[in-house]
Amino acid sequence: MKSTLRNGKDEMVVTPWEVMGEIDYDRLSREFGTHIITDELLQRIAKKAGYIHPLLKRGLFFSHRDLDVILDEYDHGKPFVLYTGRGPSGPVHLGHLVTWIFTKYLQDAFNAKLYFQMTDDEKFLINPKYTLTEIHNFMYENILDVIALGFNKEKTKIITDVKNIGSLYEVALKVARKVNFSTVKAVFGFKESDNIGIIFFPAIQAAPAFLESALKGRSVPCLIPAAIDQDPYWRITRDVASKLGYPKPAQIHSKFLPGLGKEGKMSSSQPETCIFTTDSPEVSEKKIMNAYTGGQATLEEQKKLGGNPDICPIFFYDYYVLLSDDKEAIQLRRKCRTGEVLCGECKKNLAEKTKRFLVQHQKKREDAKNNLTEYLLERNGF
Ligand code: TYM
Repeated sequence: MKSTLRNGKDEMVVTPWEVMGEIDYDRLSREFGTHIITDELLQRIAKKAGYIHPLLKRGLFFSHRDLDVILDEYDHGKPFVLYTGRGPSGPVHLGHLVTWIFTKYLQDAFNAKLYFQMTDDEKFLINPKYTLTEIHNFMYENILDVIALGFNKEKTKIITDVKNIGSLYEVALKVARKVNFSTVKAVFGFKESDNIGIIFFPAIQAAPAFLESALKGRSVPCLIPAAIDQDPYWRITRDVASKLGYPKPAQIHSKFLPGLGKEGKMSSSQPETCIFTTDSPEVSEKKIMNAYTGGQATLEEQKKLGGNPDICPIFFYDYYVLLSDDKEAIQLRRKCRTGEVLCGECKKNLAEKTKRFLVQHQKKREDAKNNLTEYLLERNGF
């Protein structure tokens, strides 16, 4: 089991807390022991949903574990719960949002209950610069983003770890007793100097995957949508599942949304290359206009040689986040390659779309303030 792939000179590092270098997703999937999503699986989901979500069709969600098993069980009348989450260490960016947009699609398609875990504890333990109060402020702001996406109120339970620890602790303890230090050390790369809280924490992130089974007293399958950086947690969770008599949770993994800089995933630690859901339209425009692109150094070269949409975050955003339609996307790719479209034009287009998206999302965030508590586990119960 390995979560950190260090790739010699071109270093590829993927852990829940660090993603670095150029990511080779096929290799990652092989080394993590996951499976690439086949067309057949994609069609099975689409059949239930009534359409293929572009994030699936365009391959942002690319890999899985036991998705076929979950679908088979569903077809045999055994519904599953969804489980995803957020570590609130700052504002939400568009990279987080795509996972949740896709989770909402799955919730609607399968009429599934969703556990959404807010790991205020995790972020407190790994970010010495923040107080718990600061983390809680981020958390409530982040919850507004989740609610703004329109999850089904009746079927969504937001777990905030510190407040709701009583609901998780029993299951977490059972998990913790089955995982030894050498395993978490190998999986997460923990060091002697790490605090003891973070060493226990994987048991807390594992717990929601088993919560429904524990509550119902029978096996309830669980599907976890997340980017592949969270996979180390699921390997531990799956390892202990059968020892505790719970079903192994299934996963569906996404690739990372890149930042607006030259390389690396979109990450709050580089705010200038990140579009936050709370950025004003003007700020988002400025970030996009300053972004790295797949274009040539000069206008003349761009017209002569064309650009490379495959390494261009501007193209990536248009394709994966703001979801231009298929025809538009094919045309843009071709025009970029032939130098018919210049980077400035693409940036302007994307900035306009992003501004429209942010204005709408921010309005929904405001509305979410009125019904925030209705989504919280502490208010709703199970
Ligand atoms: P966090 O807050 O780092 O990330 C929240 C979710 O966003 C995904 N993600 C991204 N997806 C695409 N592109 C990116 N650039 C990008 N950056 C982050 C993450 O994979 C995650 O799905 N420990 C977790 C919180 C958590 C959780 C869970 C996440 C608790 N339980 C269950 C997923 C599923 C965390 O800190 O996520």
